[in-house]
Amino acid sequence: MSSNALFDTVPSGGAALTIRRPDDWHVHLRDGAMLAAVLPYTAAQFARGLIMPNLVPPVTSVAAAAAYRERILAARPSGSDFLPLMTCYLTDHIAPDEVEKGHAEGVWIAAKLYPAGATTNAHHGVTDIPGIAPVLERMEKIGMPLLIHGEATDPAVDIFDREAVFMDQSLLPLLKRHPGLKVVIEHVTTAETLDIVRANAPRVAGTITPHHLMINRTSIFQGGLRPHLYCLPVAKRERHRLALRKAATSGEGCFFIGTDTAPHARGAKESACGCAGVFVGATALQSYAQVFDEEGALDHLEAFASLNGARFYGLVPNAGTVMIEKRKSRVAASIAVGDQEVVVFRGDEDLAWSIAEAKPRRWSIDLRRGFV
Ligand code: DOR
Ligand code: ZN
Repeated sequence: MSSNALFDTVPSGGAALTIRRPDDWHVHLRDGAMLAAVLPYTAAQFARGLIMPNLVPPVTSVAAAAAYRERILAARPSGSDFLPLMTCYLTDHIAPDEVEKGHAEGVWIAAKLYPAGATTNAHHGVTDIPGIAPVLERMEKIGMPLLIHGEATDPAVDIFDREAVFMDQSLLPLLKRHPGLKVVIEHVTTAETLDIVRANAPRVAGTITPHHLMINRTSIFQGGLRPHLYCLPVAKRERHRLALRKAATSGEGCFFIGTDTAPHARGAKESACGCAGVFVGATALQSYAQVFDEEGALDHLEAFASLNGARFYGLVPNAGTVMIEKRKSRVAASIAVGDQEVVVFRGDEDLAWSIAEAKPRRWSIDLRRGFV
């Protein structure tokens, strides 16, 4: 499929690549002033975004998800055709009928499983995964994907081992109990998890963030503590970063974009107990393009960015295109949100790649009915 990608020479003399418009399959947009501030960045890069439901309170009902989708649509910059695709937040008590209803009505396309307490706004998450078997069985039956934040929550488990422990103790047994369930392991950070995805593809897929392709755990402590590089799952050793780069750029259909763009106000990050999350929405595509270029794999970028995820979710790829150019660009160091600001991943740095232009899709979509 990557044969659709066109290499051109642009007037500046650098290489340029035209690919189908990409999708971001893992986005935190928040709400209110934060939503208004960050949405334009994701909407400028991606045609669709799969919106995570960890609001306060979390999105646990069809009505809440439909209302949140309306707020996102209303917050789009004028002229934007960005399409938010919604998820529901699984709790110990959510009813299988509610999950199915939202899916049947086209309000949400997937459900997110946060182990309780695993990350930001996960305290309403699931305390006992086998205990939500009726929900997972229903999802299996209707073909609705389960998106997993795969980290163990036992505070005694070393933070760098939490993904590995979750995979052994929770994910592998879950895959056995629900052999037909489609699963996305979100923001994969270890070489071993990549192998679990591969071994269980195509019903299991994995998303990979730009920051986990560019930083390792040492980056978080380089010259001092760097809170804006702290996210969960936390970046791991260099060998894992290298494995992630190989997987993302390999052309394997089970890996696709999920930026996990996760904005927090500067004060909440630069704090005695700083929040997890990296705001990568403004520099995501430029960063992915750089990684693919460095790995000599630009011909696989379109599959990772624009085709693999759509195929997994059973959606058509976007019809429009985006041109990405090997030309230096810069994004601001931070963006304003009311009287606060959010620090941008790789903000105020020279980026080797730029987004040259995006051409919108050529058909219209009934937002109320969702994608067909
Ligand atoms: O670092 C993270 N931040 N990881 C998550 O899983 C959630 C996210 C957030 O919502 O801030
Ligand atoms: Zn996330």
